[in-house]
Amino acid sequence: MDVLDQLKDKYLGGVDAAADEAALEEIRLAALGKKGEISLKMRELGKMSPEEKQTFGKALNELKTQIDTALRVKKQALADAALELRLKDEWLDVTLPGRPRRSGTIHPVSQVTEEVIAIFADMGFSVGEGPQVEDDWHNFDALNIAPEHPARQEHDTFFMHRDASDDRPPHVLRTHTSPVQIRAMLEHGAPIRVIAPGRVYRMDMDMTHAPMFHQVEAMAIGKDISMANLKWVLEEFCKAFFEVDDVELRFRASHFPFTEPSAEVDIRCSWEGKQLKVGEGDSWMEILGSGMMHPKVLEAGGIDPKEWQGFAFGIGIDRLAMLKYGIPDLRAFFDSDLRWLKHYGFQPQDMPTIAGGLSR
Ligand code: DAH
Repeated sequence: MDVLDQLKDKYLGGVDAAADEAALEEIRLAALGKKGEISLKMRELGKMSPEEKQTFGKALNELKTQIDTALRVKKQALADAALELRLKDEWLDVTLPGRPRRSGTIHPVSQVTEEVIAIFADMGFSVGEGPQVEDDWHNFDALNIAPEHPARQEHDTFFMHRDASDDRPPHVLRTHTSPVQIRAMLEHGAPIRVIAPGRVYRMDMDMTHAPMFHQVEAMAIGKDISMANLKWVLEEFCKAFFEVDDVELRFRASHFPFTEPSAEVDIRCSWEGKQLKVGEGDSWMEILGSGMMHPKVLEAGGIDPKEWQGFAFGIGIDRLAMLKYGIPDLRAFFDSDLRWLKHYGFQPQDMPTIAGGLSR
């Protein structure tokens, strides 16, 4: 029995002292492995007398179970301790506030474009599109601007480079969104109500002009659409856009090749103290050109001018943004200055809706 007591002390003590799983495995092999001490003792049982076998065998079996159990218990304890340590180590306070992240802003031009779309959508206008690199037929001829027409020069057009051998029609950076009128008519016919916001290009640069700027074109064609409808739509639009009950608009007789009669519309504003304010003061800012669509333009769009008539207008989106949000210099719009963008930009959740309000 002494032998067994010795073995017991040795292996249970070893299990107790084992610091990791590898040490435990070593003990298991040394005791219970194929050539382990306990296993070898088991084999000796065969040579013993039946009485010896009974007492020694029983005790040996018990020891084997004891060691086996001790190994399992210790293994679990080591695993628990390791987990405990990891939990302590990898502790995380989920109630801490998140790290602040830099977020961008929506550019005033994008914001105002969405506002304008929301207002016209409410009046039944859908959104049309055209290319920024436009052929000169859509940009000029179809809009009744003949090749020798001074408007072609007045527009300070950017012409696309052309090789002498190029047999494609000449292309320009579109000088206005009006060519989308032609595209919309050719695609959908009449009756139609459509707006087309987008970029336009002209060689021009000062406080209120940039070589790339934004317009939104509007066009409504029906059997009896008149100048009165045009005036009402513009007034409704301005009231909704500037969120006022009344705006003061000035209709000035004007001339555009693609409308007859034509009117330019100015809005009352003040520049006092370099602050731009709408609806007060003695200044007027031109915001749009408009008129009744010229019969030749309807024809170019495949629509019979004896049967249909319509109004059209083109608004400067950047101008609208300057007026509504009091931004005095247009050039800053396109400087990509982060401080400016942070100050004048909008949060994505400020998306305008007619019902929810159009601005922050
Ligand atoms: N296309 C003109 C421009 O860029 C603006 C304009 C005037 C558009 C009269 C129209 C219109 O649709 O009817 O200056």
